[in-house]
Amino acid sequence: MAADKTLSWSFTEDYPSEPSAAQLARAHAAELGVDAVSPATGALFRLLAAAVGARSVVEVGTGTGVSGVWLLGGMAPDGVLTSIDIEPEYQRVARESFASAGARPARTRLIAGRALDVLPRLADRAYDMVVIDGDPAETAEAVDEAFRLLREGGLLVINDALARGQVADPARRDPLTVSKRGVVKELREREDAVVTLLPTGDGVIAALKVR
Ligand SMILES: C[S@@+](CC[C@H](N)C(=O)[O-])C[C@H]1O[C@@H](n2cnc3c(N)ncnc32)[C@H](O)[C@@H]1O
Repeated sequence: MAADKTLSWSFTEDYPSEPSAAQLARAHAAELGVDAVSPATGALFRLLAAAVGARSVVEVGTGTGVSGVWLLGGMAPDGVLTSIDIEPEYQRVARESFASAGARPARTRLIAGRALDVLPRLADRAYDMVVIDGDPAETAEAVDEAFRLLREGGLLVINDALARGQVADPARRDPLTVSKRGVVKELREREDAVVTLLPTGDGVIAALKVR
């Protein structure tokens, strides 16, 4: 195996061809200072949504809709994406992104609010996939909610699982990094999930709920 993986890394990140609606959403994200998922992360989300035959997906962190456009591309044609964000202005832009991706309005349910206020109102075991890409300080609690929301065979996906390299650096002991590191380690120990951690983008951890 080559010692320096930098070239392979950038090739992998540039490999997907991003749908034009996601490109537009990405341009809006840059204007508004929103950190959107990388194209490789978006392509991974699309693949995972297709792999679990997702009809009902919850996303924490709508942003301007980059991740949402990719998710909709992998979901069943009548699937509904419920996406939560604390910023209604970002969701207004995301709504345009979803329309430009050709998604009917009925396919998206955008809820403005704090994730930890909204998630408890969603139904138990009613979702095929939960994607967490919101406030990193809330990830641990959002994971508990996600396992409640998922059906058996449903998939939890957490973006920025490596917190831009900080999780892997033992010298980083700030509370946010310690909390993210704890989430990653605790998921690995769960007996009700099959888990893997991928280096895509800023790290993606995926956990399939098996019981
Ligand atoms: C990393 S961005 C999401 C990017 C989006 N997933 C994409 O790829 O296009 C994080 C988002 O979480 C939202 N956010 C921050 N704190 C939140 C909270 N407590 N509850 C819900 N959303 C929150 C921010 O407004 C921001 O849009």
